[in-house]
Amino acid sequence: MTKDFFQQKAGNYEQDEKRVNNVENIANSILKSYTFHKSMQIMDFGSGTGLLLEKIAPFVGKITAVDISDSMNKELEAKRNRLGCRLEILEMDLSKTKLDKKFDGIISSMTMHHVEDIPTMLYNFNEMLNENGILAIADLDEEDGSFHTEDTGVFHFGFDRKKFLTSAKDAGFKNLKITSASVACKPHGKYPIFLLTGIK
Ligand SMILES: C[S@@+](CC[C@H](N)C(=O)[O-])C[C@H]1O[C@@H](n2cnc3c(N)ncnc32)[C@H](O)[C@@H]1O
Repeated sequence: MTKDFFQQKAGNYEQDEKRVNNVENIANSILKSYTFHKSMQIMDFGSGTGLLLEKIAPFVGKITAVDISDSMNKELEAKRNRLGCRLEILEMDLSKTKLDKKFDGIISSMTMHHVEDIPTMLYNFNEMLNENGILAIADLDEEDGSFHTEDTGVFHFGFDRKKFLTSAKDAGFKNLKITSASVACKPHGKYPIFLLTGIK
């Protein structure tokens, strides 16, 4: 069985106001970068309790939430009737299992640092998108390893923006841009967050 790294965190995940604010900033940056339509079906990779997707939901038709954590998915399930669009929740490890579906967009917040093989994941994202499908990934800039104080299955202490963009380019994405989306504030430090956007 796969370990649920978020089992102890899921129930009070949204009680951290700074975390909620951070994801809200990310959602606002994504909404500024793209015009969404009700005809769109998108995927949120590492959807967690749905902090990101609930902000995008009013503007799209359907969101497929992909997350490996049963406890985080249960928190999201409880929000289903309050979301502004249809919701599908898939409990799976997307780094191990391929998802044979196509989307008009893929969004993700604070999840890529949990993925070991970034180039392969970006390539798989490209394969999962329809032509001109949009990509919006937010995550930590390079940090010193102090961001996580508990083991939640971390493979990267943030990312170098240039290298991350190059991996997305190599995976087949065009119109790539990286901007600053937020700063995650913790009692022990401040951690800048980037947003990568691009289209297939
Ligand atoms: C830090 S949380 C971010 C949750 C949400 N996107 C947010 O910004 O609040 C990372 C989430 O990614 C999920 N996750 C990590 N690796 C994953 C994988 N390989 N496949 C699917 N979900 C994964 C975790 O279970 C967790 O819910």
